[in-house]
Parts: sequence; C-alpha cells; structure tokens
Amino acid sequence: NKQLTPSMQIKEASVTRLCRRHSIMTVNGQFPGPAVEVSEGDSLMVRVTNRGGYNVTVHWHGVRQMRTGWSDGPEFVTQCPIRPGGSYTYRFTVAGQEGTLWWHAHSSWLRATVHGALLIRPRAGVSAYPFNDAAGKPPAREIPILLGEWWDMNPIDVVRTATRTGAAPNISDALTVNGQPGDLYKCSSNGTTTFPVKSGETNLLRFINAALNTELFVSLAGHTMTVVGADASYTKPYATSVLMIAPGQTTDVLVTFDQPPGRYYLAARAYASAQGVPFDNTTTTAIFDYGGGGSSSTSPAMPTLPAYNDTPTATSFTTSLRGLRKAELPSRVDESLFFTVGVGLFNCSGGQSCGGPNNTRFAASINNVSFVLPSTTSILQAHYGGGGSPASTGSVFTADFPANPPVAFDYTAQNVSRALWQPVPGTKVYRLKYGAAVQVVLQGTNIFAAENHPIHLHGYDFYILAEGFGNFDAATDTAKFNLDDPPMRNTVAVPVNGWAVIRFVADNPGVWLMHCHLDVHITWGLAMAFLVDDGVGELQSLEAPPADLPIC
Ligand code: C2O
Repeated sequence: NKQLTPSMQIKEASVTRLCRRHSIMTVNGQFPGPAVEVSEGDSLMVRVTNRGGYNVTVHWHGVRQMRTGWSDGPEFVTQCPIRPGGSYTYRFTVAGQEGTLWWHAHSSWLRATVHGALLIRPRAGVSAYPFNDAAGKPPAREIPILLGEWWDMNPIDVVRTATRTGAAPNISDALTVNGQPGDLYKCSSNGTTTFPVKSGETNLLRFINAALNTELFVSLAGHTMTVVGADASYTKPYATSVLMIAPGQTTDVLVTFDQPPGRYYLAARAYASAQGVPFDNTTTTAIFDYGGGGSSSTSPAMPTLPAYNDTPTATSFTTSLRGLRKAELPSRVDESLFFTVGVGLFNCSGGQSCGGPNNTRFAASINNVSFVLPSTTSILQAHYGGGGSPASTGSVFTADFPANPPVAFDYTAQNVSRALWQPVPGTKVYRLKYGAAVQVVLQGTNIFAAENHPIHLHGYDFYILAEGFGNFDAATDTAKFNLDDPPMRNTVAVPVNGWAVIRFVADNPGVWLMHCHLDVHITWGLAMAFLVDDGVGELQSLEAPPADLPIC
C-alpha cells in the first residue's frame, strides 16, 4: 500500500466562459480540479492550503473514512473551516472501495468550481476489475467525465443573495462537461471538451455528477453504455442508452467504439428541476472523436435525451441497477427510522426579508427539522473535545432528532396546509449505537413542490432495498425489498413523489452528515447528522483530534 501526499492550494484563477473572463476559486489553478488517483488500500495525506478569500473545507465524497472522521470535511460538522491563510492535512485510507468517487469543497457553494475526481483502481496483484472487453482485456482507456454547473455570477454571491432575501437562488447559466459548456452555448465552440477514441476499443467512462442543483440525463449518440459500477461499488452489467445521475452520484460505464468512424456527441441535460420550474432545456455537449476518417466539417451525431420531467425513465434506470455481489445484510433491524425529505416555507418574521412565495422564506427539512450548522465549533469537536463529555455539547447541538415525522399525513398530496408543516430550525443529531443495523425510509414530500432528492450519507455506503411512488406503506412495501443483490451507494435519488429505503450497519464511529445533495436544499436545511457512539475506552474509539485541526 502506498502513501500518497498530493497538495492542494485553494486559490483564484481566471477562466473564460460564455464570452467573458471570470475569476473563480480553484485547486492549484485548475478547473475542474486535479484528479486524485489511488489504488484500493492506499493512504492519503492531503495538505490543503487556503490561499483564497473564503473559508473552505474539502470533503472526500463517498470515502468511508473508517475511524477517520476528522478528515471527512463538512464545515461545522467534522471540522471548523480552513480560514484564508490557513492549512489542514486530511489523512485517511481508501479501503474496500473501487471505482469512481470525487472530492469537493464543503463550504457554502464553493464546490461549484472546487471539485475533482477520485479514481480508485484495484490493487495490482490483489484484485482486478470484474469486467473486460470482448478480447478479455481490461478497458484500454479510462476517461473521467465531470458533469457540472456554471454560474456567470460568483456562486458564493448567488447563495448569499438567496439567503438574505429568502428567495430561490438564480439557476445556473450553463451545464458543463469537464468544466466546458460545449458548442451549443454562446462563445463555447473552441473550448468544447473532446475525447479522442480509437475504433474497436472498449473504454471505461467514469461519470461524476458534480452539478450543484441538477439531476442529469446523459447519453452518447450511437453507442450503448454498459453500467458496471456506481458510487465506487460494482454493479451487475446493465446495458442502456441513457443514464440518470443525481448530484453526488457517480456511474462507471463501458463503451465499445464500434460505430462508423466519425464524431459523436455526449450530451447531458436536466432531469427534474428546481422549485418545479421546467429547466430551460439547455444541453451540454462534449465530442467523442474517432479521428482520421471522420470529417470535422459535418456536425456530430446528437443523441436523443428524455424530457426534463421523464420520471419513468429516471426511475427505471436507477431501479435497474443491481449489486454485483450478494448483499451482506444483517437480518435484524435495530433502528427503524422514517424520515420525510422535502422543501417547505418559513413564515417571515419581523425585520426579515421575505423573498419567497407569498411573503415567506424558503426552508427545507427532514422530519420537519430544518438543519442549522453550528458556528462556534464543529459537532464532532463538541462531542469529542474535552474528553467527550456530552454535558458540554448542549449549546452546540442536541441529540433529539426525531425518529419519525411529528405528524403523519398524505406526504405526496398537493396543497397540504402549511399550518400542519412548518419547519423548525435546529441543530439536532440522531444517536446510533455502534454496530446497530439501521434502516431508513426516506419519504419525499410534496409540501411545496414534488422533487427528486438525492440523499447522501457521509461515512457510509448503504444498500438501497427498494424505491417506489406515493406514501411508503410498511404493510405492503416491505415485501418489495431486495435483500439479495441491492445496489450499494452513498447517494440515493429519492423518486419524485415517492420513497426509497436504505440499510446500513453503524460500524463507523463519528458524526456523519446526511443531506440532500442539491446545494439549494442543503442551504435551506435539508440535512441532519448521525452521531455514532465511539464506545469510549474500546477498540473502536476515534483517535484524538489532529493537532492542526482548524479552530473556529
Ligand atoms: Cu458530496 Cu456532504 O457531500
């Protein structure tokens, strides 16, 4: 096992997009940021130095962080942010995971430009990909593809304005492939991302949805994609012409370049949408180019993409994925939780600006609790600091996050009385016993708008046992659980007006955020945290906080 020590300088750089120059926050001057490439079992020591003007942290999205919670990264959850001029070294091992993950800033909306791929290959001589090309060889090339979202305005100002007014933030000005909008956008032809490919080869395409607020349909003209992995867990091969990737998720696919030589568009466009408003149907493109024979004067072939509201296609894709290996699930469930996830509205009170609909402010919640980040320390520091005395934590957070919604009603009905469902702000965690088998029903609500919520859990992978529409009904829906080969992921796209059921074993002590990976929703409070007890004095204890852990 190797020890890798990449270094990351957070700093401004200038780029031209959509006809104008912009100064953006980057890692090492690169946008998207550098890919971190490891083999399974490698350890990383990543020194992050903040040379920019904003507080920042880096999160290793999907990395299990077994007993290394101090390196997870969400600001005010596991660490205070790194202040301008400061630095912090993230130390962790990537173990038991292979495929594609990524890293991103976990402060405000900085991740719009501060993100990159984390590629985890099988360890040579120990394991190998469970897939091959037609000749029995591993894929000839691997292509990381980061799908993103571009704002002409500084994304930090976009979210600051929205937070001040209570209104919805501006939607992005472009979707991107590896940082480029592609040639359907103004002034963007020259920068269009182009992937040279070789006729007859099979390549591994590693897709990452790094967009802030947009689920994406993805298609490659003329080519079939065979999904072989998602969120750094292998899947049974699944051949398809279209992918649906929600923010936070990754999807690994094999493509054989078996079409007549030429140029083919890879295209991605929005599925579902913010606040129930149809996205403006912009499409981002990149070009797969066989080179040689193809003429660059004819335009590339364009794939057909589903409509932005094609929920049947989105759901049929996600529910077609199966874990490659038999699930290792305990037959018991120690903690059975029912969490509503959705967007609602706060009533406005004196002195506030009320830019939301009908004189309100947007809010979002889980079980009606709208998550508020602490500001004086992180939840993990509050819990473990000072000998971990829980008595000292009450001013930072409380451990009374509800296991169930406060009232039950028809969650997917429209026009539910707002008086029934007013989000209550709070910094609450749900305490799990070390080793508990946990099941969570994630029930989407339609209190303000029916949406797909990509729910991401830090520090764990979970099995997705089932997904469905309407209100989850234990009496009939439990029979639909796949306990045999469910997919294992770190982010589940909870269907529009529907539910998903996940299961995991709480074997990783620490404080682990669970949230909607639409940044607009995490901004509004669609988050909570699990506190997994460390069994003080026992083997599973967390190590003491590192000496360079930032203070608030
Ligand atoms: Cu990629 Cu807390 O998120």
